[in-house]
Amino acid sequence: MGSTRRPVLVTRRLPQEALDRIEARCDLTLHDGEGAMPREQLLTAVAGKAGAITLLTDRVDDEFLDAAGPQLKIVANYAVGFDNVDVDACTRHGVLASNTPEVLTETTADTAFALMIAAARRIAEGDRRIRSRAPWTWGPLMMLGQDVHHKTLGIVGFGRIGQALARRARGFAMRVLYHDVYRPPAEFEQELGAEYRDLEDLLRESDFVSLHTNLTPQTRHLINVERLAIMKPTAVLVNTSRGPVIDEEALAQALRQGQIFAAGLDVFEREPDVHPGLLACENAVLIPHLGSATVQTRLAMANLAVDNLFAALEDRRPPTLLNPEVWEQRVPSG
Ligand code: DGY
Repeated sequence: MGSTRRPVLVTRRLPQEALDRIEARCDLTLHDGEGAMPREQLLTAVAGKAGAITLLTDRVDDEFLDAAGPQLKIVANYAVGFDNVDVDACTRHGVLASNTPEVLTETTADTAFALMIAAARRIAEGDRRIRSRAPWTWGPLMMLGQDVHHKTLGIVGFGRIGQALARRARGFAMRVLYHDVYRPPAEFEQELGAEYRDLEDLLRESDFVSLHTNLTPQTRHLINVERLAIMKPTAVLVNTSRGPVIDEEALAQALRQGQIFAAGLDVFEREPDVHPGLLACENAVLIPHLGSATVQTRLAMANLAVDNLFAALEDRRPPTLLNPEVWEQRVPSG
């Protein structure tokens, strides 16, 4: 970067260590507010920036890129999911785009497993019950849940996080099925003890279904009325991917009618709003998009986003690039 301090936008406070790294080398504009950056403010703030670290609450599209102007070299998205970033628009504008894969894999798999157990064993409901101070006495039939161990787990989307979940399931002696549009090599299936199923068979056979797909037009409402109807009445559905992968209206109805046993949801169709039907279901465990929310992982994500940012500003290839074609076609500066 030499001695020139480049203007950089960060759209929400990150772990301090990462901000210190940026401030040591760049002119930092930081949105320090509580919520997501309001759109107008975002468009004004990005003008003239050489780099931006964005969040999943920021829409990066033609409007954003036009507002940024020609100096913008990189949009470093602080998330592994990048459905908020129009990567093709970035490519058209000659702007590098990156995300933060791998550093959050294990933590997100932990969250999915925690939701499986919490929903199956009615942990959040039990906590609410105690706090309500309603009288209770131990009873043979009180608040019975479903076993997790030795059950069948169906993983939809068998990328890094899905595979990390499969490894956890082995410790619980679970049988693992998976569905993905890409079939990993056979030795991988063997190592993870996972069997491929088409989606409908997976839904029919699984006691737990955990979603790990990207959000694309093909996966929007992948879990809908028809697919919920073929799941077991004892099944638990878990989602740590993106909210719109589930039709929430249909899920609320399935939970209400006991069509499936429970759901554990980290993500929602219209965050931060949650479907009122889900809020009313005791058998839904609802947490506010905490999949990667540990001190260690959020710092690792921030450092990876900063590594991507610095690489682009220094004409080095960012480590986790989403549009390598922009890098290949670049005209090095300086
Ligand atoms: C992601 O990275 O995509 C998560 O949703 C937030 O960690």
